Amino acid sequence: MNGRPTALVTGASSGIGLEFARQLAASGHDLVVVARDEPKLKELAAEVSTEVEVLRADLTDASDLAVVETRLADTTKPVDVLVNNAGFGTMGPFATLPPDDEEREIRLNVIALVRLTRAVLPGMLERKRGGILNVSSIGAFQPGPFNATYSATKAFVSSFTEAVHEEVRGTGVNVIALCPGLTRTGFQEASGAHASTMPKFLWQTSEQVVKTALRDLEHNNAVSVPGIQNKLAAALVRFTPRGVVRRMSAGVGRRLRD
Ligand SMILES: NC(=O)c1ccc[n+]([C@@H]2O[C@H](COP(=O)([O-])OP(=O)(O)OC[C@H]3O[C@@H](n4cnc5c(N)ncnc54)[C@H](OP(=O)(O)O)[C@@H]3O)[C@@H](O)[C@H]2O)c1
Repeated sequence: MNGRPTALVTGASSGIGLEFARQLAASGHDLVVVARDEPKLKELAAEVSTEVEVLRADLTDASDLAVVETRLADTTKPVDVLVNNAGFGTMGPFATLPPDDEEREIRLNVIALVRLTRAVLPGMLERKRGGILNVSSIGAFQPGPFNATYSATKAFVSSFTEAVHEEVRGTGVNVIALCPGLTRTGFQEASGAHASTMPKFLWQTSEQVVKTALRDLEHNNAVSVPGIQNKLAAALVRFTPRGVVRRMSAGVGRRLRD
């Protein structure tokens, strides 16, 4: 025991998760880093100056997921911050998308996130401190035609996280949902979205997103929306009739698909 807090970050091998790992290490956290790409996790371990435990896991696989749950529930090595960041999206008309990919998306974005939250929360409540940050998306605020399963998984993440946030109010445990907009990572390419056609002003960097997210986690702001452009988009959705929102969202989906 070295007295430093420990943060577990899923999807720490790239993009937003890698940046979470870097910023949490820079603020003095030891890390437990989780993803499938072990060499990338080892590179990260060599880069940062705090202690890093590498946990290779495919979180869509029940036995790999159980290993991470066990690590989170181990009260002899408490995890102070859990960042449920690993996630991916599928893109295209729902009727054409491989059903196994849709299921894996739900396993990773929803099932793993719920099980990992459940694994760590009792210990945090016992210790009367801790933070859980679940990565959602601004895609959670409206249905996403041509992105249907992805948006639905993120709507789940936001609703689930806000509910747990409220359940643990006043316990010393902070639980928040992070809703980034377009962020420059490998995500868009992996999902097959043609996002490079989206206007420049909409994009943020992982550094910007994670800086806002960690500040909001500290203040226990239940829903963290980084960037003024994304705050405006969220407000627009709230005050626009749902039918109009759906059609606007379909327009964006078509543009990302084509
Ligand atoms: N980029 C955006 O515009 C954007 C916008 C809103 C929300 N988000 C959300 O932000 C989060 C991070 O995305 P990103 O943009 O940083 O994408 P990314 O660069 O593609 O990173 C995704 C991370 O998830 C991990 N991962 C994927 N499948 C996994 C699996 N089966 N088991 C364990 N880990 C897995 C990947 O690691 P391995 O491949 O090594 O397993 C990688 O570290 C996601 O939840 C995403 O939905 C992104």
